[in-house]
Order: sequence, then structure tokens, then C-alpha cells
Amino acid sequence: MKISLVYYFVLFFSLLKPLQSATICNPNDKKVLLQIKNYYSRNATTFSTWNPKTDCCKWSNTGCNDAAYPGRITYLFVTYDNDISGTISPMVGDLPFLKTLGFYHLPNVTGLIPSTITKLSKLEILTLTANKLTGPIPDFLRQIKTLQHLDLSNNRFFGTVPSFLSSLPNIFKLELFSNKLTGTIPESFGSFKNISLDLSDNHLSGAVPRSLGHANLTYLSVGRNKLTGDVSFLFARDKPLKTINLSRNKFKFDFTNVDLPHGLELIYISQNMIYGSLPKRLGKVPLYSIDVSRNQLCGPIPTGLQAFSPSKFAHNKCLCGVPLPPCKK
Ligand SMILES: *[C@@H]1O[C@H](CO)[C@@H](O)[C@H](O)[C@H]1NC(C)=O
Ligand SMILES: *[C@@H]1O[C@H](CO)[C@@H](O)[C@H](O)[C@H]1NC(C)=O
Ligand SMILES: *[C@@H]1O[C@H](CO)[C@@H](O)[C@H](O)[C@H]1NC(C)=O
Ligand SMILES: *[C@@H]1O[C@H](CO)[C@@H](O)[C@H](O)[C@H]1NC(C)=O
Ligand SMILES: *[C@@H]1O[C@H](CO)[C@@H](O)[C@H](O)[C@H]1NC(C)=O
Repeated sequence: MKISLVYYFVLFFSLLKPLQSATICNPNDKKVLLQIKNYYSRNATTFSTWNPKTDCCKWSNTGCNDAAYPGRITYLFVTYDNDISGTISPMVGDLPFLKTLGFYHLPNVTGLIPSTITKLSKLEILTLTANKLTGPIPDFLRQIKTLQHLDLSNNRFFGTVPSFLSSLPNIFKLELFSNKLTGTIPESFGSFKNISLDLSDNHLSGAVPRSLGHANLTYLSVGRNKLTGDVSFLFARDKPLKTINLSRNKFKFDFTNVDLPHGLELIYISQNMIYGSLPKRLGKVPLYSIDVSRNQLCGPIPTGLQAFSPSKFAHNKCLCGVPLPPCKK
């Protein structure tokens, strides 16, 4: 009885030890995480499991999940914590294996993005949404060639939209909405190879560069800016565009002969000065959401759109037919 118990005990630990040492976090990474913890208030619940005596790969809000780099911290999320205040700790730049870094929904986080993040040569996802970060969108972001998804939305960034963003070779999602950005959309944005782009709710002005008609946009939102002119070139049957939101700008063009992308699922063009009639194919694309209200549109609503609410077509010059009242003969 006793012997077998001791036997199992020894067996258990001889199995556990090598397993554990394989996943135990790198001492440098642990040191850096503890510096980040100390940078903020002790009250922050984000760090409640960050005990120096335990394996930091097992702490909450962080982890080591890349088998190629055992024991290295690959992600860090500091989120939804009012006790995190001040700037983003510059020490985040000393976690060289980080692939995902998120500081978001932190109402007391202010200041600039620390330039130390340029040391993160493996960083793919940077999510800094819904804080009170400020400054121009920093030029040093161009050094992080590995970036795939950059989310700076819902902050207080000002200045222009930098043209270098389209030269990040791996970027496929760029979210800059709800900031205080000014100026025009860069000409260079025509060179995006595959992009989901959200610039809505800023103070952008001027015409959308024609080059953007050559970019492969999968999602485009520029709603609630001060953009002007004709953007019919954004539409073409063979484009991968599924969502387009142009609402609340000063766009002015004839909608009649716009060639809708075959996979279009959502189109919001409300509150512009768009004229002509609705393209016939609007009822034939796989739309699940539409809003063309408050424009200068006229003529019959194409068949296939009857299920949408009349409000989505309201306040135009003379749109008619289901779901609006019948056209006059
Ligand atoms: C932490 O919380 C305690 C008790 O709620 C409070 O007295 C203290 O001021 C807080 N410390 C900081 C740094 O916010
Ligand atoms: C953090 O933000 C909350 C809500 O915005 C506020 O009530 C609180 O006083 C702030 N705390 C600190 C430490 O700044
Ligand atoms: C857009 O995608 C098509 C097909 O995938 C490709 O041929 C074209 O080069 C792409 N355009 C750009 C600007 O990358
Ligand atoms: C384009 O980006 C989407 C994510 O937005 C991704 O799922 C898709 O694989 C990408 N396509 C190409 C051709 O890179
Ligand atoms: C379109 O953009 C407007 C303005 O930013 C925004 O209020 C609305 O929620 C957006 N709609 C969709 C479906 O994205």
C-alpha cells in the first residue's frame, strides 16, 4: 500500500517536472510583466493573478501560446479596467515575442503611443481602441512591418491619416474611426492589396482619391466625415466589397448606373446628395442591410427590396413603390 503510494508520488512528479519546466515563462519576460504591473495602481484587477512566485505563462490577461517559442509571452491584454491610468507602459516594448498587444476600453489611459513598440518585431495585432490616447498617428508605426490589424479607434488622435499605412506589407484591417483626424484620404491608399478600412466619424474632407478604386476593399466605412464629390468608382461588379458605409458626408453623384459588387451585403449611403435612381441590381445582390435615406434619389425601388423598412428609403426626392407608396402613373 505505502510502497505503491510512494511509487505513484514519484511517478507523478517525475512526469510533472519536465512538463512544467517546458512551459515556465522566460525570466526576462516575467521581469518585464512585473514592471508593467508596478507601473500601474495596485488596485488594478487586471494584474491580480500576477504573482512573482508563479509561472507567468499562466497569469490572466497574458500567455505563451506559440509552440515555436516556449515560455515566451506572445499576447497581452489590458482591458476594461478603470484603475489603469496614465500612459501605456513603455515596457511593453521589452516583450520581444509579443504577437498581439491590446490596451482597450481603459477610460483613464491617456497620452501618446510609446515608441518602444517598434521593438516588437513579431507584432501582428495592435488594438488600442476606446482609451483617451492622443497625438498624431505616429510615424514610427511604419517600422512594424509584421502588423496585420491596427485598431486605434475611439481615441483622441488628431492630424492627418498617414499615407505609409498602405505600405505595411501584411495589413488587412485598419480601424481609425471615432478620432479627430483631418485632411484627405491619402492617394497611396489605392495600393492596399486586401483591406477592411474604417475611417468613419472623423473630420476628413475633400474628394476620395480615384486611386481607391484600385484597392481591394472588403469593407469600407467613411461615414460621418465631410467628404465630397463622386465615389461611384468605388463600385464595380468584380470587387470583393461586402460592406460600404458612405453615410453622413457630402457625396454628390448619379447612382443610376453604379455597377454593384456581386457580393454586396450592406450599403449605407444616407444623408448625402446622391441623385438619379436606385440601380436595378440592388435587389439582386445578397443585401441584408440598406439605408439610402436623405438623398436626392428618384424613381421606382427595384424588386427584391420589399422586406426593408420604409425609413431606409425615406426623405428622398421621389423614390416610390414598395416599401414606399406606389409610383404615380
Ligand atoms: C486603492 O483602493 C483603496 C481602497 O478602495 C483606496 O483607499 C486607495 O486610494 C486606492 N489606491 C489607488 C492607488 O488608487
Ligand atoms: C477612472 O475613470 C473613472 C470613470 O471614467 C473615474 O470615475 C475614476 O475616478 C478614474 N480613476 C482614476 C484613478 O483616474
Ligand atoms: C486585387 O485582387 C485581385 C485578385 O485577387 C488581384 O489580381 C489584384 O492585383 C489586386 N489589386 C491590388 C491593388 O492588389
Ligand atoms: C483578405 O483579408 C481577409 C480578412 O479581412 C482574410 O480573411 C482573407 O483571407 C484575405 N484575403 C487575401 C487574398 O489575402
Ligand atoms: C455607418 O456610419 C455611420 C456614421 O459613422 C454610423 O453611425 C453607422 O452606425 C454606420 N453604419 C453601419 C451599418 O456601419
